Amino acid sequence: MNIAVCSVRQFCSSSTCFKKVPDRLKGRSKSSQEWLTRQMNDEYVLKAKMENYRARSAFKLIEIDDKHKFLKPGDVVVECGAAPGAWTQVCVKRINATGKVSSQLKGKHVAVDLQPMYPIEGAVILAPLDFTKSLSQTRITEILGGQLANAVLSDMAPAASGIRDLDQDRILELAYSVLRYAQQISMDGATLLIKLWAGGRIKQLENEIALHYSQVKVVKPPSSRQDSAEMFILASNFKKNT
Ligand SMILES: C[S@@+](CC[C@H](N)C(=O)[O-])C[C@H]1O[C@@H](n2cnc3c(N)ncnc32)[C@H](O)[C@@H]1O
Repeated sequence: MNIAVCSVRQFCSSSTCFKKVPDRLKGRSKSSQEWLTRQMNDEYVLKAKMENYRARSAFKLIEIDDKHKFLKPGDVVVECGAAPGAWTQVCVKRINATGKVSSQLKGKHVAVDLQPMYPIEGAVILAPLDFTKSLSQTRITEILGGQLANAVLSDMAPAASGIRDLDQDRILELAYSVLRYAQQISMDGATLLIKLWAGGRIKQLENEIALHYSQVKVVKPPSSRQDSAEMFILASNFKKNT
């Protein structure tokens, strides 16, 4: 890595910090060069490394939950699109899924992803598995063993095709699949958190969610890049019999 002035800006003794530039950019596409340079200069990437999170995305869930406080010890959580596992790491701690804090209730966390995932203590990991398949959802329900969920989280995103409308349709399909499943397995008062990309038919989805949850908000945590279309729908207080 070629560092103009300092390697870790937080600990820099120099009065001026310059942007870090990765070494082996040659031969890479422009977008890959930009991505690498951005990753290297991103404070959340650095923070994730220091706090042992598998990805910077951990801070999105941390920031949303710090503000809206829906994850509690003892909760049952289903997480869709969990790889590499940063949200899972955050969640298992917050719901005490390992049971390590003996004074608190022990939670249950089921994480699903299309990609394989390394184990995370306290989480039941179903990967690789396509969440949208009904057999996959039956498996999750079996693992819940009759318990209903306090929260259903989805950070699922389709592999981007680069065609905006197509990608938008695909993420919406994933979101509808999460909503339908959440309706089956959520308890009264449960929370739903779904990642989306701004635009398209989001309002329609929001309206549909509002039929089943008494509060629906669009949230964008500070760690979600300002130049990205990413946003989250946070719905609270699920009304079971609607
Ligand atoms: C942004 S990543 C999730 C990052 C994760 N929240 C974390 O913090 O580590 C989106 C994930 O959605 C997964 N995904 C996309 N479609 C899926 C599907 N049909 N079933 C399960 N996972 C899916 C992808 O494989 C990808 O790992």
